[in-house]
Amino acid sequence: MVLFSHICSFLPLVSPTGVLEPLPTGSALVTESKNKLPCSDVYVFFARGSLEPPLLGPIATPFKQSLERILAPRSISLSFTGIDYPNLPEYFFLGGHPLGGRTMTLAVRTTILICPMSDIIISGYSHGAQLTHDTAFQLLPHERNRIAGVVTFGDPLYRHPLPPPLQARRLSFCHPGDNICDGDFYDIRAAHFSYHLNATDAAKFVAERVGRGGFGRAKL
Ligand SMILES: *[C@@H]1O[C@H](CO)[C@@H](O)[C@H](O)[C@H]1NC(C)=O
Repeated sequence: MVLFSHICSFLPLVSPTGVLEPLPTGSALVTESKNKLPCSDVYVFFARGSLEPPLLGPIATPFKQSLERILAPRSISLSFTGIDYPNLPEYFFLGGHPLGGRTMTLAVRTTILICPMSDIIISGYSHGAQLTHDTAFQLLPHERNRIAGVVTFGDPLYRHPLPPPLQARRLSFCHPGDNICDGDFYDIRAAHFSYHLNATDAAKFVAERVGRGGFGRAKL
């Protein structure tokens, strides 16, 4: 039930009035190119690092605020959602909690189905960055193609390429001296805790890639 409620929390199923909007009659969902339900123009799914409190912490919060500041004046709506998962360090050492990757994959998959015109970004910090890799590999090729960008901070898999076309849509922040990015997990240094400094850089990258009316018009 916990998982279910988390999944429901990011489903754009209800209008702001809380009423499920009926589909127009006589039109086939699969052949329509427009969003059928109240969807945001842009979805960012962000997974936090090990032991950080849920759901948007010291990196995601300024990242989200910075992105809102860029998109709002352009009348581009944003849904910025934290992916919940058991962010225990022991799973970080094992390469990332499997439930985290599955939850992010399901969030992306559902959004693709419900909001075919929206742009989708996956993002994460440290343990959360590992989950973006899991997601990239779990998505089907046509789903991968719907991801407008991947943004990671302090990614232990920094040197590992993502499957096409996502490697070319990727921005990975790794500060000099952050040896987590070199796969050295047992000596976490101050450089691993300074990625809030890149919140605006990350937001600019996302804004460059999204918001032109959805899939097909984003810079892909
Ligand atoms: C990230 O932030 C640091 C510190 O402000 C800066 O030196 C670096 O250039 C930024 N990285 C990118 C890719 O923008």
